Amino acid sequence: MDALTALRLQLEWGADEALADAPLDRTAMDGTAMDGALPVESAPSQEPPLRQLSRPAPVVAILPEPSLVARARAAAEAAPTLEALVAALAAFDGCALAHTASRLVFTDGNPTAALMLVGDCPGDEEDRTGKPFVGPAGRLLDRMFASIGLDRSHFLATNLIPWRPPGGRPPTEAEIAICLPFLQRHVALVAPRRLVLLGSLATRAMLGGTPPLSRARGRWHEVAVPGLDRPVLALPMAHPLGLLKAPRGKRDAWMDLLRLRQALDSHANVIETRVV
Ligand code: URA
Repeated sequence: MDALTALRLQLEWGADEALADAPLDRTAMDGTAMDGALPVESAPSQEPPLRQLSRPAPVVAILPEPSLVARARAAAEAAPTLEALVAALAAFDGCALAHTASRLVFTDGNPTAALMLVGDCPGDEEDRTGKPFVGPAGRLLDRMFASIGLDRSHFLATNLIPWRPPGGRPPTEAEIAICLPFLQRHVALVAPRRLVLLGSLATRAMLGGTPPLSRARGRWHEVAVPGLDRPVLALPMAHPLGLLKAPRGKRDAWMDLLRLRQALDSHANVIETRVV
């Protein structure tokens, strides 16, 4: 394999960023080192890279670790406002993605709108800017919602995972389980009248279980959110990134947008800005 092919392979695997000055052979390490911190002592340089200096060591979790999920839930539920929730996320050291992402990507749009959109993970433009849905998927999202008369003043957009996974890989079950309490708290604090779940990850996380998007889309689901005394109505639909890759899904997506528009029209005040 030539060097360029090897490099491409690493990018495909998600190794798109150097975290230490020297490569690390994790297969040669014993289990204790694998549990926790990056073993900076094995790097030849005395100076750990900036990211390791500026943040605590990451916790590696492939399967959901109950104590991490409980810590995430406690941190999220202690946040009384959106500002406190961002601060809690920024301080949370239980998700390794925070150590590889450039920025925390929290939210964009109108925090008092009655409609909230939930995507899956930030892409690279979101990672650079710290705002959700600013890349190609975001541009299509804006066009899709403009077609039913909505722009970002009419909704708040966020993601299930607030940090971009390395190389744009899908998040693990553990990462989803750890980030979900923060998303649920986000929804509870905004208390939207309607939710749109973009793509299968957000749908599966918010609806629970594993309904395939193809079966869940096209109707409203009641979602119980901790901290809210009534369920929120959620409409799963195709993720704009999926539509960019498979445009034949656009017909269903259009039907779902019309369904959303109809619901908003039948509760005319849903898209009005609420005084909170
Ligand atoms: N895809 C998402 O789900 N969210 C973003 O912010 C960008 C792309």
